[in-house]
Amino acid sequence: MIGIIGAMEIEIAGLVGKLTGAREIAAGKITVTTGKLAKTSVAVCRCGIGKVHAATAATLMIRCFPKIDLIINLGVAGGVKPGIKQGDFVVATASVQHDYDLVADGLIKGQIHGYEKTAFDSDSAAVVKMCAVLQKLGFDYEKGIIASGDQFIWDKQKAVELYNEHGAYACDMETAAIAHVCDMFGKRFLGVRSMSDNADGGAVEDFFEFAVKAAERSIAAVEAYIKVR
Ligand code: ADE
Repeated sequence: MIGIIGAMEIEIAGLVGKLTGAREIAAGKITVTTGKLAKTSVAVCRCGIGKVHAATAATLMIRCFPKIDLIINLGVAGGVKPGIKQGDFVVATASVQHDYDLVADGLIKGQIHGYEKTAFDSDSAAVVKMCAVLQKLGFDYEKGIIASGDQFIWDKQKAVELYNEHGAYACDMETAAIAHVCDMFGKRFLGVRSMSDNADGGAVEDFFEFAVKAAERSIAAVEAYIKVR
């Protein structure tokens, strides 16, 4: 079984609508829809925006559906690496929580308490497979780090900081939280995002104009990934 998590309705609705034998399971404020996509069993969840929502949903999915062996986080993101365009993909090789700051306690920026590292790796085989899928679909993509935090980034200077400080190619508000939970439970993780904006002064307008289109692209990519399984 594959677990799929998106923050917003536009990031998952197109997938949920394609499930056969769909069943909704509610726990607290979270709803998960299970079913089949082609021959693969999936559990799809709209987690809500932000790291706490994302981590809660990931934990729930892992505990409720022990057959999940891979969690994919899909959706839209802000492009941070110079040259990355709206609609392009970033396949997360790893993800970092850019707003996690225990520098005062001697850790480096983004380093998580109890960990030696700042970034959580995605499953390398899943990254390779997703890149092949994107290539086949004709989508432009880059492999790189996604930086997540509880902030919508709409300031060019902050975007430059994420690139310089964390080597981020893209920013969002959930990927690294889900990757962190997957690490805690020993589950494989893959993050894949299509760019809705460039995390700069025009990001808000761009987001409202392009988020639906970018979300549709990311759904198409995940659907294709699952179908060639
Ligand atoms: N998701 C899409 N665009 C984003 C941005 N600019 N900052 C954070 N999350 C995003």
